[in-house]
Amino acid sequence: MRSLFHLKKNGGPLLFLAPMAGFTSAPMRRLCHAHGAELAYTEMTSDMGLLHDSDKTWHLLETFCDEGPVVAHLYGSNPATLAEAAAKVEATGRFAAIDLNAGCPVHKITANGAGAALVKNPQLVHDILAAMRRAVTLPLTVKTRLGPHPGAVTAFELLAAAESAGADAFALHARFTSQGHGGEPRLDLLAAVKRRAKIPVIGNGGVHSAYAAQRMFRETGVDAVMIARAAIGNPWIFGDIRADLASGRELAARDAARGRTRRDVSVIKDTLEAHMAAELELIRLIRARYALPRQAMDPDDVLTTTFRCHLFRYLHGLKGSSYLRGRLSELHTLADIRAAVASCLEREAAYRAGAKHEQAGL
Ligand SMILES: Cc1cc2nc3c(=O)[nH]c(=O)nc-3n(C[C@H](O)[C@H](O)[C@H](O)COP(=O)(O)O)c2cc1C
Repeated sequence: MRSLFHLKKNGGPLLFLAPMAGFTSAPMRRLCHAHGAELAYTEMTSDMGLLHDSDKTWHLLETFCDEGPVVAHLYGSNPATLAEAAAKVEATGRFAAIDLNAGCPVHKITANGAGAALVKNPQLVHDILAAMRRAVTLPLTVKTRLGPHPGAVTAFELLAAAESAGADAFALHARFTSQGHGGEPRLDLLAAVKRRAKIPVIGNGGVHSAYAAQRMFRETGVDAVMIARAAIGNPWIFGDIRADLASGRELAARDAARGRTRRDVSVIKDTLEAHMAAELELIRLIRARYALPRQAMDPDDVLTTTFRCHLFRYLHGLKGSSYLRGRLSELHTLADIRAAVASCLEREAAYRAGAKHEQAGL
């Protein structure tokens, strides 16, 4: 059987990095893999962009050969074009699986009948997945939501549609489309879907801590937990959760309330450097594969736009990060970013040294 669930390279529970447009490109995925994510999804990629050979769309599916297993995350609403796009994606030989986006609530996606518009249409989800199934041999998955709103739970029909179409796993963001990304995930409904499922279920929504992961595994019985926002600027979360769960310690809500594990300043610096170096590596890879001219994808432009959001999440909560946020518009080059990071980390290191001094009563 085609399966994604032979992936237990790290032992213990399966933890996946969720798809996030604008974030989960190869650099973030490689870091999350290195820190214990077993599987990572690409950014969402348009079937039509792939079929029209749009370079920008294909850039979204660039992978590093050493990053670890990656799922190509496609969106669209037409069975024939999604199937054709999936076959092209499979032919790259880069992916461990192909996933259908049936949950993105952004208007420009749903207006074309894709993303969360599919939550209301299990029959179309079936037809799309059945067409994709005929077109590819890779494992096929779908990521969706509980339903359009709490008055209309469609997840059970969506699961049945996925199963009868031959999908290999069902990823469920345990929120309704009407909730966006906010509000409590409904673990009771996720558990009910899991009980009904004949294929593995991947649970998603609100996992920001080991406590939340433990609750999701225990209360729902899902086969894997998928993490999105909590991994931005925090690739260590996969290792942290794995270690906490392996400790056998009974976790409590107060463990989650402590927030992110505090890292050494040098660890943050090295990881940020590795992430920036990987962004530059990705630019070189794309330029080479698409024979782009040297002036295309200027590293200063790319890093000051795409990397900013990562940067602030890495520095979140450190002394100097709000000062840096205020100077966002002044970061025009990679050198500006490096200088700003150095100054923020120096402030944090000085603050920590002062606090230690005080504690020691000196
Ligand atoms: C910036 C951002 C981009 C996202 N992009 C996608 C996407 O392209 N496809 C998708 O299925 N979900 C997308 N999501 C939703 C996440 O995959 C995930 O389902 C959601 O954030 C809930 O998980 P969390 O509580 O762990 O963040 C995105 C979320 C965020 C915050």
